[in-house]
Amino acid sequence: SRQIPVPEAPMGWASWNAFAAKVDYNVIKKQVDAFVAAGLPAAGYDHINIDEGWWQGTRDSAGNITVDEAEWPGGMKAIADYIHSKGLKAGIYTDAGKDGCGYYFPTGRPAAPGSGSEGHYEQDMTQFSQWGFDFVKVDWCGGDAEGLNAKTTYQAISDAVAKATATTGRPLTLSLCNWGYQNPWNWAPGMGPMWRTNTDIFYHGQTLSYASMLTNYDRNVHPTAQHTGYYNDPDMLMAGMGLTAAQDRTHMNLWAVSGAPLLAGNDLTTMTTETANILKNTEVIAVDQDPRGLQGVKVAEDTTGLQVYGKVLSGSGNRAVVLLNRTNTTQNMTVRWSDLGLTNAAATVRDLWSHSNVGTPGTSHTTSVPANGSVMLTITGGTEQSASTYNGTASFSGV
Ligand code: GLA
Repeated sequence: SRQIPVPEAPMGWASWNAFAAKVDYNVIKKQVDAFVAAGLPAAGYDHINIDEGWWQGTRDSAGNITVDEAEWPGGMKAIADYIHSKGLKAGIYTDAGKDGCGYYFPTGRPAAPGSGSEGHYEQDMTQFSQWGFDFVKVDWCGGDAEGLNAKTTYQAISDAVAKATATTGRPLTLSLCNWGYQNPWNWAPGMGPMWRTNTDIFYHGQTLSYASMLTNYDRNVHPTAQHTGYYNDPDMLMAGMGLTAAQDRTHMNLWAVSGAPLLAGNDLTTMTTETANILKNTEVIAVDQDPRGLQGVKVAEDTTGLQVYGKVLSGSGNRAVVLLNRTNTTQNMTVRWSDLGLTNAAATVRDLWSHSNVGTPGTSHTTSVPANGSVMLTITGGTEQSASTYNGTASFSGV
């Protein structure tokens, strides 16, 4: 049976994109403070997730993880306590294999052999929960290197997470990170609320690209796997990390129409107001967090590169739409109600970035979309075309 540990896709901030393995108590504390100061909690962001680098692979004679107290005074419980003191949830990270990513791909702070949780799943998950963590991301570097079966391995980890929760009474939620290897959308729902569907958008030492962000979006569309509480994860957000503001808005639009977890990854202490406002667009976030939990799908591509995505929202006759222009010239793009399963000409069309209602009554809406850019709309108060063929469930699979 499936539990729904978190109904909406998790939102928050994660340390990897900005800091790689160079994290310690002070780095995280400063991000927590900046997160609160930027008003991210009021927009719905509530997780602070420590990614790789907090632990280098040392255990005591009983097999318990030990951490460097010079970097983490008071141990990991102290930073979890600090995160909780701000009303936020704390996330931590490990690997499914014997050796973690920091061993195979050191980014600033190499990890020793044994820096993964294999052989210690119950011990480590219980330890994380005892320290106070609410969320754990389990990576796949060791699993990949050892050729482990992802499904059976993550099932064992999910069982260990459930035992940890039962032991401590603190819900611990599992984020699966095997990069889409072995098609997790076919088996991960129910093991945890989110599973990665592709490799990283950005690798440290490489240049962040808009094309890479789009690739992760394209590889994330598995609508039959997604339901309230279970989300395809196209990777953490790159907003504020080098793309243009328009590209960052498209990134948000695509993650929101996908109903994806929204984990910012930029350095919040140097975030511009423009980036903060992109991350905090509450109308776009509302689409992402829509309680129906469905994933948007492509509903039309009359001309190659001019793609219309539609997401069925809760209530009756409500849709979110992204008009994505993948060409190098500005284009007029049209969304037709018939492609969205709607019929009502009186539906309200709203632009989620101008925050205004647009268009006149009709059965389609046409607007100019910038080159390599997007427009995001909601169409609400429509009439459902046919409950049997377009009933807002994941069986709707678009074009
Ligand atoms: C993998 C994951 C990333 C990040 C790094 C840490 O690449 O996909 O999200 O956790 O490992 O090394």
